[in-house]
Amino acid sequence: MDSPVVSDRIRSVLDQMEASTRAVDEARTLPPECYTSKEFLEFEKEAIYRRCWLYVGHESQIPEAGNYLADNILGEPVVVVRTRDGGIKAMSAVCRHRSRPLVVENGSAKLFRCPYHNWTYDLNGNLMGAPEMNKTCPLKELRQGNALPAIRFENWNGFLFINFDEDAEPLAPSLQKLQPHIENFVKADLKVGPVIHDYGEIPGNWKIWVENAMEPYHTPWVHPMEHDYLAPKNSRYEDHVPSDASIHHWTYITGWFEEDEKPQYDLQGPDDAHMLFPPIKTLTEEELNRAMFATIPPFLFFSAMPDMVFIFQIVPITPDSINLKVSWLFAKECLEMPDIEERARKQDEFNDIFNQQDFTTNKHVQQGLHSKYAPRGRYCYLEETLPQINRWLLKRCRDYVEQCG
Ligand code: FES
Ligand SMILES: [Fe+2]
Repeated sequence: MDSPVVSDRIRSVLDQMEASTRAVDEARTLPPECYTSKEFLEFEKEAIYRRCWLYVGHESQIPEAGNYLADNILGEPVVVVRTRDGGIKAMSAVCRHRSRPLVVENGSAKLFRCPYHNWTYDLNGNLMGAPEMNKTCPLKELRQGNALPAIRFENWNGFLFINFDEDAEPLAPSLQKLQPHIENFVKADLKVGPVIHDYGEIPGNWKIWVENAMEPYHTPWVHPMEHDYLAPKNSRYEDHVPSDASIHHWTYITGWFEEDEKPQYDLQGPDDAHMLFPPIKTLTEEELNRAMFATIPPFLFFSAMPDMVFIFQIVPITPDSINLKVSWLFAKECLEMPDIEERARKQDEFNDIFNQQDFTTNKHVQQGLHSKYAPRGRYCYLEETLPQINRWLLKRCRDYVEQCG
């Protein structure tokens, strides 16, 4: 097959992106075209989405054999299933007969049964039955080469990733800087809570969403009051090299409690002296006093807090919009609380205040980026993570162009 052609326009945008990868005090924001152009998103689909590790869910969402996650990822129907031997397998969900996706939303099954002509597949994707087909082609023969194609899959500390590139490097070795920051959360065996908030299609390029989630500079202005316990000046950053698959920073918590005051766990919400959930027992003193913000681009952003982890799954739909799903990981003692559903809902309501503020911001930024006057702006030192994201992005774009020749 001929190598895909990368247009001169895209090559010129990549050259312009170089200025976005300098040190934070020298870098310029990405060319506006990176956020607004259909051609650039199509290029990203090949360079990023078909080659990088994509977050698809948490292992605790599929605890039993037959539990599965179903998704359509930029046009690829996929299913990630707990198999009978307790493993997890990712496969194309496209039926081998005439391409109807077998499943389109999360669920549980003993077999995958195509709703069109009732071909059936076991949990490993092997074709098991095909009504009336014996007269055309004996089942034994039909089964050869008609299993659901497996997709590369990796389970990183319970976070499930797929990769459409057979030759992709494994994920975990490129997450070594993030690993120590998540280890104590993993020890607590956190599981997805009862609320998953699917916001559907919302405005803003996927990079605007990742950037907004990853910089603390905006928080006093976009989230006055609600975010005061995480002051930008208390943020700390990490060195980053473009081959790192993650970017992270953390912010020390101040002002949750008056000195010597014990936190109260009640349903009033996580304001001055109230938390909805007790602190996670396996965390260090340091971890109990900070919030870690991390992205494993392009799909995953999460924040590891003293009492839970919240997760954003950010999937692009158009240059101007994404699908956003928000979920939370909680410790066992939280999930066993009799009023966990009410607490989880309350937590969602609280997060929704931030999210709505960020929706408005991101929607307007997207509008601004379409302006012919949109700048190549300068970064504040509090936006250290943004040139890091740019370096992550440009490296992968360049790697792809090199492969194309
Ligand atoms: S398309 Fe699935 S059985 Fe026909
Ligand atoms: Fe925000």
